[in-house]
Amino acid sequence: MVSAEFKRIKLIFAPRTVVTFSNRIEELKKLLNLARRGHAFPVVVFGPEGCGKTALLKQLVLLLKEEGIEVVYVDTLEENIDRAILASPELKEALVSLSEAVMGPLGKTLAYAAIAVVSKILSKVKSENLVIIVDEVFQAVGLDNAAIYIKKALNLLEYPPDLRKRILIILTTSEGISRKEVARHGWADIKEIWNLSFTGLKELYDQLPEPKPDYSQVWRITGGNPRILKQYYIRDWSVENLIKWLIVERGLETEIAKIVKEHGKTLLIEGLEDPDLLLNDYQLYLKLEKLNLIVDLHDRSYSEGWIGAPPPKNPELGVGNKIAWQTPLHKEAVQKIIQQIA
Ligand SMILES: Nc1ncnc2c1ncn2[C@@H]1O[C@H](COP(=O)(O)OP(=O)(O)OP(=O)(O)O)[C@@H](O)[C@H]1O
Ligand SMILES: [Mg+2]
Repeated sequence: MVSAEFKRIKLIFAPRTVVTFSNRIEELKKLLNLARRGHAFPVVVFGPEGCGKTALLKQLVLLLKEEGIEVVYVDTLEENIDRAILASPELKEALVSLSEAVMGPLGKTLAYAAIAVVSKILSKVKSENLVIIVDEVFQAVGLDNAAIYIKKALNLLEYPPDLRKRILIILTTSEGISRKEVARHGWADIKEIWNLSFTGLKELYDQLPEPKPDYSQVWRITGGNPRILKQYYIRDWSVENLIKWLIVERGLETEIAKIVKEHGKTLLIEGLEDPDLLLNDYQLYLKLEKLNLIVDLHDRSYSEGWIGAPPPKNPELGVGNKIAWQTPLHKEAVQKIIQQIA
């Protein structure tokens, strides 16, 4: 059972700022239940960039191990093979030896190897339950291969070499396009996760040293996104620098200018107040999604489509019924650029 006292992982928030994993109890409960029962379809965890998917899954790995559930975790973005895999020594060895035989980028190789190895040695796995987690899988295998990858994962679940096992496969993505590609075939269950809740982010904020701005201000600009909180923190809490960082890093000035030229300003401005209106111009909506500025929201009443609680509608934070800005900062950055375009 996950209670408030579970053993929490430590995370490096910034150089010399170590924090303890905060909140997310509901999410961990849901994932642990899936792990105990196994799940007939690969679960694709989808949510805003930096909302805390990787941290959540690393915390999950610890809890699974404590329960004696075998887990293979592959971090496809890690360059070091030793750190890229979290698994029991036997599974890890099998994964490493298979990967060494294949040429190509490590993340991609490991993503495929995770499924292949488990298919090969499933009956030797001691525990009845097995969880496979591949983080950022579509970035690793490429969008073109997303569907076939999911199909391979589904194949393992539908035709496992050992029928007694309960398997759960978790794959993550923060890219709207790969989510759409996955949804097209119905080979996976997509479960959405949102930024931290008001109380969830507060637990993280409370761990950061003084001086710091009021929590209400931090909430208003981050909307609960821990990565944006981190960017804000390392900029000595300067909102101006934070907005500038997002605009410059993403090349948003050029991108938004191009969008305004093609679609005009009116709907974009309306979409700052009510993101659902962006759907009135589907091409505009797709472009903003591709830039990772906005995210689709699952129906809130479809509770199995959510890991944790869906965010309540809140136009001020940029959260609509069907569409949300990834964070309020994303919305503010776009607003600032539009104001500058004559
Ligand atoms: N529950 C949490 N408690 C404390 N820190 C967290 C929590 N969730 C995330 N963080 C921190 O916030 C940052 C972003 O989180 P993380 O990398 O997990 O996001 P992500 O959703 O995987 O991002 P991406 O979409 O880019 O893969 C990390 O520094 C992480 O340590
Ligand atoms: Mg991640």
